[in-house]
Amino acid sequence: MADSNSSHDYPSENPKPDPDANSSLGNDSSIEAIARRVQDSLSLGKKHKFWETQPVGQFKDVGDTSLPEGPIEPTTPLSEVKQEPYNLPSLYEWTTCDIDDEDTCTEIYNLLTNNYVEDDENMFRFNYSKEFLRWALRPPGYFKSWHIGVRVKVSKKLVAFITGVPAKIRVRDEVVNMAEINFLCVHKKLRSKRLAPVMIKEITRRVHLENIWQAAYTAGVVLPTPISTCQYWHRSLNPKKLIDVGFSRLGARMTISRTIKLYKLPESTVTPGFRKMELRDVPAVTRLIRNYLSQFVVAPDFDENDVEHWLLPTENVVDSYLVESPETHEVTDFCSFYTLPSSILGNQNYSTLKAAYSYYNVSTQTPLLQLMNDALIVAKRKDYDVFNALDIMQNASFLKELKFGPGDGQLHYYLYNYRIRHTLKPSELGLVLL
Ligand SMILES: CC(C)(COP(=O)(O)OP(=O)(O)OC[C@H]1O[C@@H](n2cnc3c(N)ncnc32)[C@H](O)[C@@H]1OP(=O)(O)O)[C@@H](O)C(=O)NCCC(=O)NCCS
Repeated sequence: MADSNSSHDYPSENPKPDPDANSSLGNDSSIEAIARRVQDSLSLGKKHKFWETQPVGQFKDVGDTSLPEGPIEPTTPLSEVKQEPYNLPSLYEWTTCDIDDEDTCTEIYNLLTNNYVEDDENMFRFNYSKEFLRWALRPPGYFKSWHIGVRVKVSKKLVAFITGVPAKIRVRDEVVNMAEINFLCVHKKLRSKRLAPVMIKEITRRVHLENIWQAAYTAGVVLPTPISTCQYWHRSLNPKKLIDVGFSRLGARMTISRTIKLYKLPESTVTPGFRKMELRDVPAVTRLIRNYLSQFVVAPDFDENDVEHWLLPTENVVDSYLVESPETHEVTDFCSFYTLPSSILGNQNYSTLKAAYSYYNVSTQTPLLQLMNDALIVAKRKDYDVFNALDIMQNASFLKELKFGPGDGQLHYYLYNYRIRHTLKPSELGLVLL
């Protein structure tokens, strides 16, 4: 059946599987993989020398409901924030990356293309485009100082990167100014030298300098302590290619032609009034999405500027569609996805997997299932190979029926310096990080 089609997870932000994931040994039973999984499960009990020193929920406090929700540490006066950057090992220096500069953007692109997140079996690696990076890193009110690189002093080669962007995030009824941290990457040759903690401390310092004291981030690895753990699901659009490159495998008792037939989609969308979002739709979409996101425990607090930036279509970066009622001309429903290809490592025939990632979707009049089916039709027509979605928001209501299969990738959500009393269900999350 469709829900067992993915033998390899897509490179979610999850280079290692969660040792508790039920699919663990079924897909990959090489000695190396087993050894790695045993190590992973042992490491669950191990100390986090860095994260134990940080204001984040600690494993020892899990289940202690006497601790209050909200900031873990109080804000300190700005004058007490360290004014100088943290020390790097002597061969390296900090650089603030100007992504408007084409050469700098290319350096970042190359670092990430060669060193960023890979799947468990090192078959795929995220390949964020330059246009995507410019979109992700320049939202309203962004700070250049939060685009941080590390260079080799002598050669000036860029060898590490971390970023933040400002975001208003609502937790229950509290709207909190936060940094969304992303693109943490250390060159493969510089791994395991404790560079990541210095980078995290430095970005934290620069976030504090803007009088912001909380952050949100996701990771495939388990750290102290997830506010929620979600799963990726994958909908094949081009099953033949996905099988050829080893992303999925042929189901039991399936032939390739039956598989192609199973995933076939109509040529055109079915919802009357379904069209691409335009600039004039920003106020209506903002109202729609604000109202919709209010039902989730953690969600962004979007204003019109945010909606214009994050949701107005940008070619090969973000696609957004809405339903305008043919009778009332009211905007009633909305769906969107972003474009994040992956490099296919070491395949003779293919070099890139074109993936769409479900972003924000709102259904009020059109059933979510029908809306998402139209999103799949659009993505197929635009030649995407696969459509990915997390089981957050109301996504679980359509995944199985629309023939998404569960991946083995889990994505953990974290907040820095903000305690949530109970772990959240994925369906309580209304936040998508890129
Ligand atoms: C993630 C990455 C930067 C970590 O660097 P590293 O050289 O492997 O690890 P370092 O020795 O510098 O630091 C280890 C510390 O960083 C923490 N760490 C590792 N990955 C992390 C992540 N994704 N987010 C936050 N902290 C992380 C570790 O838990 C450890 O701290 P601890 O002792 O408290 O547990 C590096 O492995 C990398 O670039 N990987 C590929 C890209 C990637 O996965 N990026 C993260 C996307 S979420």
